[in-house]
Amino acid sequence: MAIVVFGAGGGLGLSLTKALKQKFNDSTLIAVSRHPITERVAGVHYTTIEDYTSTHLHAWVNEFSERGEVLEGVVSTIGMLHDDDTFPEKQLDDLNEANLSKLFSVNAVMPLMILKACKSLLDKKQSRFFVQLSAKVGSIEDNYLGGWYSYRGSKAALNMLLKTAAIELKRSHKSFVVAAIHPGTTDTQLSKPFQKRVPDDKLYSPALSAERIVKVIEGLKPEDSGGLFHWNGERLPY
Ligand SMILES: NC(=O)c1ccc[n+]([C@@H]2O[C@H](COP(=O)([O-])OP(=O)(O)OC[C@H]3O[C@@H](n4cnc5c(N)ncnc54)[C@H](OP(=O)(O)O)[C@@H]3O)[C@@H](O)[C@H]2O)c1
Repeated sequence: MAIVVFGAGGGLGLSLTKALKQKFNDSTLIAVSRHPITERVAGVHYTTIEDYTSTHLHAWVNEFSERGEVLEGVVSTIGMLHDDDTFPEKQLDDLNEANLSKLFSVNAVMPLMILKACKSLLDKKQSRFFVQLSAKVGSIEDNYLGGWYSYRGSKAALNMLLKTAAIELKRSHKSFVVAAIHPGTTDTQLSKPFQKRVPDDKLYSPALSAERIVKVIEGLKPEDSGGLFHWNGERLPY
């Protein structure tokens, strides 16, 4: 049985790889990133992928199939909030097409392309979960502050896409769970520019967040499929 982490090179990706290896020691752990990872965990299989588009994901699926392993679960950390050209918008005047499209592509399109590619690897009885890290700010009901249009909108789209896939997969893969998990504000490059406003006790280390996420994954049941979960295991409103 194998568990695959996509986006294994990020702050949460590195810690989740470590935490998953500890918890699911009997499973083969495969860490996939666009860049070679130097901070390695003993016993984990590391592999690079050019990007998370269909062509390269297909090539990865073929490579995985040749291993002859059953896919137990997938954890994807793929996501972005800012880069050199993109920063969360405070107001409508800050919006532009390029940034909106970029965030929708990384936060919603790529995770769904990963799920689509992995579908052919799912075993109806033995495959257990597809987990994508999402964000509470993508909850429409929970949006009281506004701002961060592209990030909020793309995570809300992600949540809807995951829920839709959960409904479809429930018909064919009865014990499989598709879930989105909110990790909480974690000290990674993604949250760096926004940490000043976060109280110390609300900024979590990647190791702590990874431990909490793994606990949520361990507790997932088929009836949870389609849900958005807080790092403490509670269900969040969409
Ligand atoms: N940190 C927080 O406070 C926080 C809070 C709420 C939600 N989250 C969510 O948690 C997840 C992990 O975040 P993190 O804090 O670990 O951030 P991170 O260190 O920036 O890692 C993000 C991952 O996403 C992939 N990625 C980023 N930009 C990409 C692009 N342009 N194209 C393709 N892949 C890209 C990278 O994969 P590679 O390994 O291939 O480079 C990277 O590993 C994200 O989905 C984020 O939205 C984080």
